[in-house]
Amino acid sequence: MSLKLNNEFVRGFVADTDVEAIRPEIENALETVKNKDGAGNDFLGWYDLPVNYDREEYDRIKAAAQRIKNMCDVLIVIGIGGSYLGARAAIEYIQGNLYNNVAKDTPDIYFAGNSISTSALNDLLKICEGKDVCVNVISKSGTTTEPAVVFRVFRELLVKKYGEEEAKKRIFATTDKARGKLKELSDKIGYETFVVPDDVGGRFSVLTAVGLLPIAVAGVDLDQLMKGAQDARAEYTTKAFEDNECLKYAAYRNVLERSGKTTEILVAYEPSAQMLCEWWKQLYGESEGKDNKGLFPASVIFSTDLHSLGQYIQDGQRNIFETVLDIQGSNDTICVPFDEANSDGLNFLAGKEIHEINRTAMKATLYAHMDGGVPNIVVEVPDRSAYSFGYMVYFFELACAVSGYTLGVNPFNQPGVEEYKKNMFALLDKPDPSLDALKAELKARMAK
Ligand code: PA5
Repeated sequence: MSLKLNNEFVRGFVADTDVEAIRPEIENALETVKNKDGAGNDFLGWYDLPVNYDREEYDRIKAAAQRIKNMCDVLIVIGIGGSYLGARAAIEYIQGNLYNNVAKDTPDIYFAGNSISTSALNDLLKICEGKDVCVNVISKSGTTTEPAVVFRVFRELLVKKYGEEEAKKRIFATTDKARGKLKELSDKIGYETFVVPDDVGGRFSVLTAVGLLPIAVAGVDLDQLMKGAQDARAEYTTKAFEDNECLKYAAYRNVLERSGKTTEILVAYEPSAQMLCEWWKQLYGESEGKDNKGLFPASVIFSTDLHSLGQYIQDGQRNIFETVLDIQGSNDTICVPFDEANSDGLNFLAGKEIHEINRTAMKATLYAHMDGGVPNIVVEVPDRSAYSFGYMVYFFELACAVSGYTLGVNPFNQPGVEEYKKNMFALLDKPDPSLDALKAELKARMAK
């Protein structure tokens, strides 16, 4: 079982000769990843991660997840960017976007520290009232302001509620193995810690403890998830270009970028894939958007967005293309009921599976958008299993690295993200001599 690329809706826009022309660059980019001799090569840990990970820590993640399940009603996962998107994407994709609202024997899981909104934080604090709570704080650097501020609030809450000793058992920290404030604090107090490996950047870290601990708490089979990633790695790092869907995806999107497209929209027809789209946007946006280059990664969930952004996609500026996730299987079967009176005139659909109607909407849209001048790359995904999720993670990560090198950027840094962080520290008067000049400059600009 694997992903399949359906090129029926992109063929009319990208000639086979264009794909053949870019092929050597794509193959070279894969070699650069494999040989670890390109820009950012100290952040290639994700490449081998499905087969080369810390087994002892992996078992500890499973054990900690079991303890968390036994101990709490609510797990608060604190992190931002790559330190939360992958876990949330997996939980919603596999367990459904209403995971917290459905009956289950695993804790509710809420994500915090991904904004600095007082009301969002206050709502979470209210949710925790009268509940048993655990916290997983995740920050590779251990210094990011948003999660650090929110962690202080939850640390205080847990200490007040349970006392220092018990709170200590309920807090799990995922961070650098040796550096950073979070590691220092964890060692001082004695939290159980998990490691974000040095050579794995935030947006490539879902298959480390960053993603795996919250995902395991949600009751997802980690072995299946890792197996999916392992099988994808075996396939995409060995198969020749003509049989390699991952390299072909990278080729299509780079040809389209060179032909003048500026925006790639990831499309899914399942609300449970919304956070997967957010994870994908971070992966591609932070990896490719630099040096004045890169496709702008956007996303939509159809068919709801067919009633909003659908108009633009059909008829607006022709600078876009779509990558459609065709999730073929459904976890559930619900059919349209038969109505004797047929007062809504819908009996022509009676007995039909709603999932099939959804897939028909997809096919109808593919033809409409193609006719409207929008190329569509279709990625066929068998189902919403943990295995398929793991497979997709590796597919998109490898395609991203290969695309980034083909585009001529370092796919593994994010210098742009640091700019606002520095400004924010300066404006908040963080005591740091290296910020003094910036503080003076920003104050002068604001005084004008
Ligand atoms: O991909 C990245 O590196 C970033 O999005 C980080 O994940 C994000 O900035 C959070 O950083 P940290 O985990 O250090 O708190």
